[in-house]
Amino acid sequence: MRITIFACGYVGLVTGACLADVGHDVMCVDVDKDKVSRLKAGEIPIFEPGLERLVSDNQAAGRLSFTTDAAEAVKFGLLQFIAVGTPSDEDGSADLKHVLKVAETIGQHMDDYKIIVDKSTVPVGTAAKVERAVAIELEKRGLDLEFDVCSNPEFLKEGAAIEDFSRGSRIIVGTESERVREAMRECYGPYNRQRDKMMFMGVRSAELTKYAANALLATKISFINEVANLAEHLGAEVEEVRHGIGSDPRIGYSFIYPGCGYGGSCFPKDVRALANTAEEVGHPAHIIEAVEQVNFRQKNKLFEKLYQAFDGQLAGKTIAVWGLAFKPNTDDMREAPSRALMEALWDAGARVQAFDPEANNECRRIYGERDDLVLAEQREDTLEGAHALVICTEWKAFRTVDFSLLRKTLLEPVVVDGRNLFHPESVKAAGLAYYAIGRGD
Ligand code: UGA
Repeated sequence: MRITIFACGYVGLVTGACLADVGHDVMCVDVDKDKVSRLKAGEIPIFEPGLERLVSDNQAAGRLSFTTDAAEAVKFGLLQFIAVGTPSDEDGSADLKHVLKVAETIGQHMDDYKIIVDKSTVPVGTAAKVERAVAIELEKRGLDLEFDVCSNPEFLKEGAAIEDFSRGSRIIVGTESERVREAMRECYGPYNRQRDKMMFMGVRSAELTKYAANALLATKISFINEVANLAEHLGAEVEEVRHGIGSDPRIGYSFIYPGCGYGGSCFPKDVRALANTAEEVGHPAHIIEAVEQVNFRQKNKLFEKLYQAFDGQLAGKTIAVWGLAFKPNTDDMREAPSRALMEALWDAGARVQAFDPEANNECRRIYGERDDLVLAEQREDTLEGAHALVICTEWKAFRTVDFSLLRKTLLEPVVVDGRNLFHPESVKAAGLAYYAIGRGD
């Protein structure tokens, strides 16, 4: 099957590479010339385990190609995936300008039947807007060509995207058309062998499913964080509570890990966009708004704990930070809790010595060279001359620590753990003060 993918970003690249890997002919198109020439040379602009090999193997096999030529790309595929970004507008709603631009481009160049697949996370009603945008362009050209627009949201987690694409729990397609259903079955057939994961539904339901899924996951996180904060006031231990509630299969253990807040390019943006949509239709979504407020507060927790540990005397202090990415196995720092922490520390006059196994370069790109930021090559290097250690991301490599050595190295015995990685007793036994999330201090 011939497939065109608009944009070689995170979702576009993973989708393109995975579909090519099962034998489809895939052409990925992007406006960024530099990105396309790097991809042609086998260079991957993002860090995603397994993606580099998948891209180079399929390119070598001639099933995956990259271009900046939109006209060629539109002519190429029966399926035209739109996988461009939908950043938050100033008011929090999803900005559709890239999506609609692609729709226009398709309308300007198509010369036979196309199925346009909305893969980007877009608000309910976007498929109808895409349809209008294509129709307007066709009308300008005086053409009456048939096309369909369907919604096919993605459920990929950064760091596990290829696994999620190949073995995800569902493949959602919003469409009323039998022709689209058939084509999408063929497209995803190789990933749909063991059991039928295809779920067909109305276009608007598919669009809402994506937001509802992310908002519910974000709700679980904000909920457990709220419980963690309560536990601190009530003298309870949130990790025990988590164990207790997770054992009920109706609740389950996943996504109830307390921490320093959720980040990334999806939850914060999608929660805001859904709250915004709700507002627009005159039905404010109170729970969803609260999820965002709780998360905003939670991202400030690490700074609050440091502030408390140092009685507000943070000016001139040096703080070691382990983990900059918003979660392990990615170099992505979008809306990462580490950023809220570092920015608050700088405002308070403190210095940061940070280490992340993958995100050091991204941090350098975001903040540039500054006197109050040192990026270390190894986690131990952050501890030299540091008054305290803060853990923002639960990279596996941070789980084992020699606490007595840590006690000897730190200028003050302060450990703030934003991911509850350690047993409080073992940290405290080394003479360190341990500030974690929802576990008492
Ligand atoms: C999320 C969803 O999990 C995917 O299903 C979805 O497809 C994707 O958004 C998207 O919309 O594209 P992702 O943003 O990659 O994926 O990251 P997650 O693994 O879901 O983690 C999000 C944040 O929640 C991280 O900051 C993580 O540290 C935090 N988190 C997660 C917690 O604080 N506690 C938990 O129990 C789980």
